[in-house]
Amino acid sequence: MKKFFSVKDVANVSEVVKEALELKANPYALPNLGKHKTLGLVFLNPSLRTRLSTQKAAMNLGMNVMVINMDKEGWALETKDGIVMNGTTVEHIREAAAVMGEYCDILGLRSFPTLKDREEDYSEDLFNKFMTYCAVPVVSLESATRHPLQSLTDIITITEHKTVKIPKVVLAWAPHVKALPQAVPNSFSEWMCQAQSEGLVDFTIAHPAGYELSEEFTNGAKISHNLDDSIKDADFVYVKNWSSYQEYGEVYPVSENWLIDNKKLALTNNAKIMHCLPVRRDLELSSEILDGPNSLVIKEASNRVWAAQVVLKRMLESLAK
Ligand code: CP
Repeated sequence: MKKFFSVKDVANVSEVVKEALELKANPYALPNLGKHKTLGLVFLNPSLRTRLSTQKAAMNLGMNVMVINMDKEGWALETKDGIVMNGTTVEHIREAAAVMGEYCDILGLRSFPTLKDREEDYSEDLFNKFMTYCAVPVVSLESATRHPLQSLTDIITITEHKTVKIPKVVLAWAPHVKALPQAVPNSFSEWMCQAQSEGLVDFTIAHPAGYELSEEFTNGAKISHNLDDSIKDADFVYVKNWSSYQEYGEVYPVSENWLIDNKKLALTNNAKIMHCLPVRRDLELSSEILDGPNSLVIKEASNRVWAAQVVLKRMLESLAK
């Protein structure tokens, strides 16, 4: 594996989940696979889970890890070509990525979208340039349009906790006060659509009108504007806010109640409730759910290690070839 950016970078969802669960059962089985190999984690935006779980996964495989918070510690990056750098940017991504590739065997990059220019964000220009110029395998730590380590974690967690062969999984939009990216719901949707095609889940997306995701990510999903109807008999409800894709980055007022609480939970098949975290309590998700027996959010965050470890394992194996 030379790149981990989308569901297309794994041939088969059930196989990668199985391999991740084998690593979970035996985390230190490959202590030398990453010996004398260095992972560089490059953050242009904040992180708790992605940073620590990916470091932990790399250490389990015997890797050395270096982390740089480029937004605070690095030089201001220029990503556009063909311009005279006489403004605030100091270093071009061509040199910065190439240099990091000299120090590291594998690189991870986190870079959020601007939410100002849809065409530019959805071109994934920054991630693609970073990949090109660093010349080593790259794992996305969340890009403008996707968060694949989170989505792999989510299907691992669903597989572990399902009580029926094909559980009903609902991605449910939730309220927020800020404009958030579509990366997590895009990614969750593309992984669930692939999992559905492999007969692993039955997948529905529920959101208010105006919050349609790009069809690129939702092909095969059932889509509804009614939360109560959608979560009826659900086995898993995946709660997440996102801003509008059509009116890019806009936040529309929503009059209906989209907050999942115990009353909504009663409509489900005693569903397990998921969220990628961080979560704003009683805005995005009720405290009674987060503190209650149906919440999977901590177990889900814990599984971030196994998603990262299986991806790093596959990249290390491809380096050895
Ligand atoms: N879910 C997730 O990616 O968390 P962090 O932003 O803290 O890494």
